[in-house]
Amino acid sequence: MPSTQSALIFVAFLVSSSICITIELGNLQSVAVNGTLLCNDKPANNIKVKLYEEEAILDVLLDERFTSEDGTFEMSGSKSEVTTIDPKLNIYHKCNYDGICVRKISIMIPTDYITNGEKPARTYNIGQINLASKFSGQSTDCFN
Ligand SMILES: *[C@@H]1O[C@H](CO)[C@@H](O)[C@H](O)[C@H]1NC(C)=O
Repeated sequence: MPSTQSALIFVAFLVSSSICITIELGNLQSVAVNGTLLCNDKPANNIKVKLYEEEAILDVLLDERFTSEDGTFEMSGSKSEVTTIDPKLNIYHKCNYDGICVRKISIMIPTDYITNGEKPARTYNIGQINLASKFSGQSTDCFN
């Protein structure tokens, strides 16, 4: 067999076996987050919130909701990863904002709130957030 061909087969073997290892060794981890959103001290209802697992290339959506009448929301999700998951909460709002698109606030969920297994043991409560405030992690988002 020509050596380039056997090298190719070897590389293909390495790639496929590492994919298998990732799937088999990944730990199923779960996370839950809740809170209350306010706009100028009033409940901010119908605000889009998303729970993402942060990835190097493309974040993976774990859950998506809208806040209720009273501004509250609750979301949860799970994902298998070899390393500890990096979940984050994104809030998309137009509180005190007239521009095109929406304002996006990103909040990382602390590692302490990640559970090994399918069902989150704890809920990360972000408390009350007034969307009228200025946040350092805030950006404008047109694709969400
Ligand atoms: C968030 O979850 C905690 C713990 O389950 C609960 O005590 C709290 O009332 C919840 N808050 C909201 C706004 O849902």
